[in-house]
Amino acid sequence: MARFLIVGNLKMNPLSREEVSQYLSVLQREMSGKKFEHAAGVLCPPALYLNEFSELPQGIAKGAQNVFWEKSGAYTGELSPVMLKNDGVEYVIVGHSERRQYGNEDDRIVREKAHAVLKALMVPIVCVGETGEERAQGETDRVLEHQVQAVFEGLSKLQAEKIILAYEPRWAIGTDTLPTTNEILQVKVLIRKLLAEMFDSQAAERVRVLYGGSVKSSFLGAVSWEAGMDGVLVGRESLFPYEIVKMLALFEEQALSLEA
Ligand code: 13P
Repeated sequence: MARFLIVGNLKMNPLSREEVSQYLSVLQREMSGKKFEHAAGVLCPPALYLNEFSELPQGIAKGAQNVFWEKSGAYTGELSPVMLKNDGVEYVIVGHSERRQYGNEDDRIVREKAHAVLKALMVPIVCVGETGEERAQGETDRVLEHQVQAVFEGLSKLQAEKIILAYEPRWAIGTDTLPTTNEILQVKVLIRKLLAEMFDSQAAERVRVLYGGSVKSSFLGAVSWEAGMDGVLVGRESLFPYEIVKMLALFEEQALSLEA
């Protein structure tokens, strides 16, 4: 498993298959001749385009932005985890704050979805994070505690270790406002502590934690490796394939410098 992970969440973009095909050809061109051993990518397009994302360059996996918790049945408009798995999806974003906000997903739904993704042998990327208001009221730790405990409840240690958490403070998404390196580091410490209490210190070390919210390649260090993070979850900048490839290269460089 690569040391660092860069997950691109394309959200509700692009608007046409023509643009998807342009995006993918630029990505192929940008990746040609490049090989990353310590940094891996995941791209999560809208479900409509998952098929187009089947032929991604080596080192970039296919992810989905959402899933339903039941395997099959009368659930109009939903996508089964088994369908996604059978379509070559390896990762699924679960509990993104935009789904919590616009889709009314609560911690119970997020848990059901994350567990269904694990059961279908894919990796859930579970988003957690506080709102601006909660932050202003000094509630960040309490909110995160609740969100993290809800997701891991009822899992074995082996299952727990497969989950990837993405710390996405809601106030940092789409705003170009960032937490400090130290604030992100404190969240990492809190998550470790919670997981060590629920499982053990080995599980706490193994669960990968990403940072998300206004990420750009120009300050990757401050929001990721300097803050003890294992990678990033990227929104807007993932719409530019060269940015994704640039981030892969920067993480690779960082991993190699850690080894040296
Ligand atoms: P931005 O990178 O556009 O702030 O979005 C972050 C995000 O929500 C990724 O899931």
